[in-house]
Amino acid sequence: MAYLGNAELVAAVSNAGGLGILGTGYSPPAWIKEQIDLTRLLTDRPFGVNIMLRSPSAKEAIDLVKEEGVPVVTLGGGDPSEHLEGLKSSQSHAVPVVADPETAAKLAKLGADAVIAEGTEAGGHIGRLTTMTLVPQISAAVSIPVIAAGGIASGSGLVAAMALGASGIQMGTRFVCSEECIAHRGFKERIIQSDGQDAIEIGRTIGRPIRCLANRLTEAFLEAERRGASLEEFFTGKLYVGVIEGDLENGFLMAGQCAGLIKETKPAQDIVREVITEAESIFQRLSRDWNRGWNE
Ligand SMILES: Cc1cc2nc3c(=O)[nH]c(=O)nc-3n(C[C@H](O)[C@H](O)[C@H](O)COP(=O)(O)O)c2cc1C
Repeated sequence: MAYLGNAELVAAVSNAGGLGILGTGYSPPAWIKEQIDLTRLLTDRPFGVNIMLRSPSAKEAIDLVKEEGVPVVTLGGGDPSEHLEGLKSSQSHAVPVVADPETAAKLAKLGADAVIAEGTEAGGHIGRLTTMTLVPQISAAVSIPVIAAGGIASGSGLVAAMALGASGIQMGTRFVCSEECIAHRGFKERIIQSDGQDAIEIGRTIGRPIRCLANRLTEAFLEAERRGASLEEFFTGKLYVGVIEGDLENGFLMAGQCAGLIKETKPAQDIVREVITEAESIFQRLSRDWNRGWNE
């Protein structure tokens, strides 16, 4: 998560047994290097780096993660095709974010090591299909591991994703409400108060759909979108204003529909452990019920 997925949160997630992902957004390579070094001081477990391909320094950032031997590199916000071969020849595993099965199949052929199948429920930049319909289609289209993202904030989401064919999950919004996350507490509070229905979509008509919590800024954006007015001014620094500075009306508050499932802020370690523990007990219950069903 741009601005939010920093070394402290990444290390906390990796130390808890997950795979923390450093969100680099539009940050310069020097900042990314600093955060990689800091992550390595805070954890000796594997972690990943997300490269926003729309960033002007995306190419340099990819060279950096290759040099650094970062174990997992996730790629979002653009076409990763040209980078897959280079990443494959390094120690890094390339994991693009995809929103349709055709793209997933194409990127698997080009050398992606896994894909993140991100449904439209997710916070941030989104596709059209829901996680429920996307994950099985992508799982059928590729033979590499599929990581489900979008709408998952609990053990039941993990079990559902695995039932749909995923090998793992990626959570964003849930980790905003972690104690280690540097998100403004007002933003965390808005997620906790949300029932998910105010996690709306904007920007579809200009080909840049984003899910974020409704506020004065999204209202102005949607109004400008309806008028066909230029929207460039909306994209300059507004995420930082919302999620870090905590201007809840004039900044973008990227968050997914799973906001409705999040009731409190807690340490990242507790989040990871609770998701796994809940998933384990659901698996046990399902298998018990299943066997009973067949025998009775
Ligand atoms: C505040 C925020 C910032 C995000 N920034 C990025 C990003 O920079 N790059 C990216 O690939 N995905 C980004 N995402 C998407 C997440 O990586 C993740 O796929 C998504 O949040 C999963 O859906 P969920 O929000 O329902 O958990 C962001 C999500 C949020 C909520």
